[in-house]
Amino acid sequence: MLLEKNVVLIGFMGSGKSMVARRLADHLKVELVRTDDLIEARTGKSVNGIFEDHGESYFREIESEVVKEISHRLGVVIDCGGGVVCTKENLQYLKSNGIVFYLQASPEVIYQRIKNETHRPLLKVPDPLGFIRQLYQQRLPLYNQADYIIDANDASIEGPVVEILRVIASKAKQSF
Ligand code: S3P
Repeated sequence: MLLEKNVVLIGFMGSGKSMVARRLADHLKVELVRTDDLIEARTGKSVNGIFEDHGESYFREIESEVVKEISHRLGVVIDCGGGVVCTKENLQYLKSNGIVFYLQASPEVIYQRIKNETHRPLLKVPDPLGFIRQLYQQRLPLYNQADYIIDANDASIEGPVVEILRVIASKAKQSF
């Protein structure tokens, strides 16, 4: 299937974006681009390291730069860091050349998936579940601006992958 636009995944940390993005890119035989990877490559530091050495606002600046750049590409799958929606222009850039899918999972599901992981600086807080609930509520209206909302509460990534492929196929017929 020829991809005439980018396939963009947004959603909270732990919503399964990375695994779904990998599967989509393999299936569609297109390149997978991850905003966090580009940020790490550009700064020569891990996401944790950037937050520790320079703080979140610096991370967001670099994130916006890479979003702007990759939005000019065509026919790639873009796996966005969970906070990409925090900067208003980012979603506009991503939508300008892509179909944006929000992988929706509840705070409780997210917490269960990521409670033992250590590479997410924002979750290094005394009450991660409380923090996730709060941040989730703040970001929900932003995530809901996606073109499509995909249920990602199930442990299997199969459902979201099939649903997204179905949307892409129907768009391809209308030559999106
Ligand atoms: C963040 C999500 C992370 C990463 C950074 C900030 C966020 O990406 O960009 O830790 O603000 O939600 P993932 O969603 O891929 O974990």
